[in-house]
Amino acid sequence: PKRTITVIPGDGIGPSIIDSALKILDKAGCDFEYEFADAGLTALEKHGELLPQRTLDLIEKNRITLKGPLTTPVGEGFTSINVSLRKKFSLYANVRPVNSFKGTQARYENIDIITVRENTEGMYSGLGQKVSDDGQTAEATSIITRQGAEQITTFAYELARKENRKKITIVHKANIMKSTSGLFLKVAREVSQRYPDITTEEMIVDATCMKLVMNPENFDVIVTTNLFGDILSDLCAGLVGGLGMAPGANIGRDAAIFEAVHGSAPDIAGKNLANPTSVILASIQMLEYLGMSDKAEMIRSAVSAVIEEGDRTTRDLGGTHGTTDFTQAVLDRLG
Ligand code: NAI
Ligand code: MG
Repeated sequence: PKRTITVIPGDGIGPSIIDSALKILDKAGCDFEYEFADAGLTALEKHGELLPQRTLDLIEKNRITLKGPLTTPVGEGFTSINVSLRKKFSLYANVRPVNSFKGTQARYENIDIITVRENTEGMYSGLGQKVSDDGQTAEATSIITRQGAEQITTFAYELARKENRKKITIVHKANIMKSTSGLFLKVAREVSQRYPDITTEEMIVDATCMKLVMNPENFDVIVTTNLFGDILSDLCAGLVGGLGMAPGANIGRDAAIFEAVHGSAPDIAGKNLANPTSVILASIQMLEYLGMSDKAEMIRSAVSAVIEEGDRTTRDLGGTHGTTDFTQAVLDRLG
């Protein structure tokens, strides 16, 4: 039987870049069945809620979801849908690889970094958020658990082993955030002891930002808490040509959601300007997760060839073409 994937086209540029990814998956002969579901602003407009039950049911049923970016309406009472999804399905690992592609406007070559971000705890726990009645004081609770820290660091080491990687950088701020970042670092150190085959280094988050910009080729796998991982992975995207080049996988025990790192890009939505590479790379992560490495490699080399040739790329890559032209160029390569 065909494997069924839940597809959430999402908001803004989402539907157009998801459409690109699906055409490419089909052309590569992946032979998936798709079940489409709404979330975000699109769902709010169509069904009166941001995250309809049917969408949750499909994510659970098919276990694999390819998702476009979602717009979380700004204002009272709306918690981020992405945060909700990650918590609801315990998608504790957010895996964000960045790779240099020849032909982009990026400042660096030879970048190959994976950020493994804890995805459900820390500053994004969403707990204890309050602002005092006089509006003068705000607070929020950051929770780090031993179990959460152990789970994510073990995931990172296992990933490093599987992908034949040499080094893990544990990123923290334990010198200042002694309790939360302190516990994370303590547990990460314990876990590292079980992986003598992999070099472990520890780095404070601010210094990490500087070193990533100065000598990014020194990094291999980064493992860190939620907020730091969010920020560092966007920084890493900037090293390889911007958000249009950055995919992310949200992985839990029973479900996985593959998506672009960026948002719905309302400034360019509906203009055929979006670079679909982010979501195409997310679908490649999905193929690898499903053990379909040959298809993943086939698509990766097609995308890479089109970007390197450079005459049918999108504006963010220095080209003059639209989402559909770029997609067609990749399809032509595959065919
Ligand atoms: P954004 O990531 O949507 O856009 C930031 C900048 O990058 C914009 O200038 C945009 O045009 C550009 N950009 C993003 N993706 C691109 C692509 N594929 N090709 C070319 N250029 C691209 O961030 P912003 O504007 O802060 O957020 C917009 C909305 O997205 C918000 O509602 C936010 O909540 C949501 N969001 C959703 C995420 C998700 O669903 N995973 C992640 C981040 C934000
Ligand atoms: Mg982010």
